[in-house]
Amino acid sequence: MIAFRTIKYIAAALALVGVVGTAPAAAPTGKAAIAARQAGFKKMGEAVKAIKAELAKSPPSQRVLLDNAKVVSATLRMQGDLFPAGSGPSAGTPTDALAGIWSDRATFDALLADSKAEAAKLEAAIASGSVSASQAQFKATGQSCAACHRKFRAD
Ligand code: HEC
Repeated sequence: MIAFRTIKYIAAALALVGVVGTAPAAAPTGKAAIAARQAGFKKMGEAVKAIKAELAKSPPSQRVLLDNAKVVSATLRMQGDLFPAGSGPSAGTPTDALAGIWSDRATFDALLADSKAEAAKLEAAIASGSVSASQAQFKATGQSCAACHRKFRAD
């Protein structure tokens, strides 16, 4: 009985490691990384559209806004690991990621960090209950996405 429980705890601990992504070997490479980041960006695009549509309602649902803002924040946090060397335009898979990401990684990382900060502020603005603050911060968040796209995305 005790042994069985121990096994369960070990399994739970291992599952947790997987969930929080502390195992660096699990980061995908090449084509898998491209597919994973594109899926993440699509998810963020949908969440941003949902926020925009909700903000056009009066009153918007704070729950819907917050759930979608959390999707944006959580997804952005994963994206940095999905641009390994070798997953650029020469990877043999269609990608809009420009080669500049790998020659000017510091700028790319800084733009990603900016976007994460704006998305966190969006969550805070929504949580505050102020629709006008949420609208203003939604705009700022969108601008942080566009700033990276202008420099590092093909279209
Ligand atoms: C630090 C740079 C960076 C930031 C910040 C960023 N993106 Fe992107 N985004 C990219 C790159 C690079 C691609 C192209 C990825 C590829 O094709 O491999 C992309 C692609 C996309 C796509 C197209 C996905 C597809 O394949 O259909 C969408 C939608 C998108 N981003 C939305 C967003 C949104 C919304 C935000 C902000 C919340 C955001 N992005 C922030 C760099 C960024």
